[in-house]
Amino acid sequence: MIILGIETSCDETAISVVEATGDINEPVFKVLSSTINSQVKLHKEFGGVVPNLAKREHQKNLPLVLKQALEEAGIEDDLKEVDLISVTVGPGLEPALWTGIGFAKELGEKYRKPVIGANHMLGHIASVLPEKGTEFKLKFPVLALLISGGHTELVFLKSWKEKEKIGETLDDAVGEAFDKVARMLDLPYPGGPEISRLAEEAREKNIKLDTKFPRPMIHSKDFNFSFSGLKTAVLYYLRNPQKYSRENDFVDSSQMAVAREFEDAVIETLLSKTKNAIEKCSPKTLIIGGGVIANKALRSEFLNLSETYKQLEILIPEKPLTTDNATMIAITGFIEYKLGNRLELEAKGNLEIT
Ligand code: KG4
Ligand code: ZN
Repeated sequence: MIILGIETSCDETAISVVEATGDINEPVFKVLSSTINSQVKLHKEFGGVVPNLAKREHQKNLPLVLKQALEEAGIEDDLKEVDLISVTVGPGLEPALWTGIGFAKELGEKYRKPVIGANHMLGHIASVLPEKGTEFKLKFPVLALLISGGHTELVFLKSWKEKEKIGETLDDAVGEAFDKVARMLDLPYPGGPEISRLAEEAREKNIKLDTKFPRPMIHSKDFNFSFSGLKTAVLYYLRNPQKYSRENDFVDSSQMAVAREFEDAVIETLLSKTKNAIEKCSPKTLIIGGGVIANKALRSEFLNLSETYKQLEILIPEKPLTTDNATMIAITGFIEYKLGNRLELEAKGNLEIT
């Protein structure tokens, strides 16, 4: 079947056309088109996403993004070949979510197509599935670490039907911590890629910080995270003129050293909690999803886990599918459709995985 995915939960207006064959246990997903219109430049001057501005941009962009997605997929604009429309209903910014939902419903009514709601975080899990071919079968149970701008959580899936959140952040999400620390370092929004770049340069040049930042909650027995203490530790460090001083307005080695130590603290914390969860839950597959896994150092550290856990299959999405996209929403819609789940077509900012 052909699925049209629509994603507007944050600052990307995205539409994908995905072909799904096979049943729920062995689906094969082929991406026919994936169009993303990013508003990052617009929100940059405000240092973060402004919900009503995002909403206005989604409204303006959706028809254009649809046209492009259909053209690239070679599909007529009367949606004759489309079997299902899948739209993100949460979590995310509600004004932004509503534009996608309204647009999906209009299309559904106009062309008489079924519309289904998708959970964005389930989407980040499903983002490892496209283009895997017929040989691939996802092995359950699955442990998923989701690390994005709004969420940090560990989810255990016995199957697509039986899923449970086993841990989450008690304060800031990891992407949010990246963005906030970047702002403290006078780096532009979104901060993740900026910190990542500086940390990499610091490693190449062997630049190290003279201080170790905390690895929050690394010894707690649960699977929860906390990143606000780490963020505060960075702030105190930067406020101490004996420790940190910028020589000029250009990127310098003191910024690089802070970026590297912050990134190391995050990586160590995420790895440690994930290892604990692997040992407790014995999953056959580990999936890491969400925008933060675009981080190169984090990707390689997580892939290295296969040396310790030889039987564990470790799946990380292709780079373009790490940050928000509509391909993952089309796939999630397919899964929900096949399971017979029908999420309400209403924006839910704090929608949980259940
Ligand atoms: O999943 P995503 O695109 O949107 C949400 O659902 O939140 O994640 C966006 C987050 C931002 O906080 C961004 O700074 C972070 O992912 N991010 C990164 C990198 N690329 C994006 N964080 C660390 N390193 C990166 N290379
Ligand atoms: Zn996301």
